[in-house]
Amino acid sequence: MYAIEIQNLMKSFSSDVLAIDHLNLTIPEDRIYALLGPNGAGKTTTLSILTTLLLPTSGAAQVMGFDVVRQAAQVRENIGVTFQEIVLDPDLTGREVLDIHGRLYKMPTRQRQERIIEMVKLVELDEAIDRLVKTYSGGMKRRLELVRGLMTHPKVLFLDEPTQGLDPHNRAKIWDYIHELRRQTGLTIMLTTHYMEEAEALADGVGIIDHGKLVADSTPQALVTQLGADVVHIVGHGSPQPFLQALQQLPYIQEIHQSDDEGIHLQVGVDNGNRRLPEIIHLASRNGSQNGSQDEFMIDEISVARPSLGDVFLKLTGRALRDR
Ligand SMILES: Nc1ncnc2c1ncn2[C@@H]1O[C@H](COP(=O)(O)OP(=O)(O)OP(=O)(O)O)[C@@H](O)[C@H]1O
Ligand SMILES: [Mg+2]
Repeated sequence: MYAIEIQNLMKSFSSDVLAIDHLNLTIPEDRIYALLGPNGAGKTTTLSILTTLLLPTSGAAQVMGFDVVRQAAQVRENIGVTFQEIVLDPDLTGREVLDIHGRLYKMPTRQRQERIIEMVKLVELDEAIDRLVKTYSGGMKRRLELVRGLMTHPKVLFLDEPTQGLDPHNRAKIWDYIHELRRQTGLTIMLTTHYMEEAEALADGVGIIDHGKLVADSTPQALVTQLGADVVHIVGHGSPQPFLQALQQLPYIQEIHQSDDEGIHLQVGVDNGNRRLPEIIHLASRNGSQNGSQDEFMIDEISVARPSLGDVFLKLTGRALRDR
């Protein structure tokens, strides 16, 4: 059984903009699936439809087998949600936030109290749980929101940008908690992110979304290994054509992608980056200075890295996936 199924989903907010464009997706139970994409790609819109907060323009979706339009109440009984923007009453304590949420879902008192203890332990809020939310740091608020979504033992947890605005340390903490949740059987997590590291760190499945379209749907490993064992990143200026042509002749070059924002960025998939680097640099200098003209290609920066989902994104969309 699939935890989430989406068939030909469309959402438009006005006649000319499709926020979601023919989206098809299936996510099996017990998985962590990350929807990765830049600002405005349609991530929140997709989650809003799946969590019954927004109606689709056409197409359909089911969560745990329940239709998000016709069986919205059953869908809500099965899900937990953490929103992109923090929505917490600053004048409540953390415990009150969790308790009120439990009451809303008609959890008996005893169950609520027990669940709060488990949740506080999971995200290490400790004695801070009895402090007012307005005294919390950004990271603590995110942790509280994460467990609020979990209070009611959902089968599917939706996290919209769970680490937005957090520093790397706090981001890694949230990742730890999500990994911990993963060990609880039967919980499916669908999260959105525009941090490729987040998708790589957490997800079994990744969908890359751009302009409302799903441009890739696979495992993080499968997506990155298409690009070659290593990727050589080159930033330069001038005319790269002679250099690119020379590169293409080399037998060990797997893929070449180019994007032209803020200088020329080349992404070259190779079998072994460190070994090939000297020859690539040599080739650039030969093909740069050869004609001696103004538009010769000059390398400003060059580096070797394992391929990342950011490289995959560049390949699929021709644009770099940048953090805000
Ligand atoms: N209520 C709305 N009314 C009109 N347009 C909207 C509305 N909500 C979203 N949009 C538009 O739909 C598109 C997708 O927005 P969405 O919020 O789903 O993107 P996102 O991938 O979540 O972006 P971000 O990374 O910034 O959170 C954007 O073009 C956005 O401007
Ligand atoms: Mg969003």
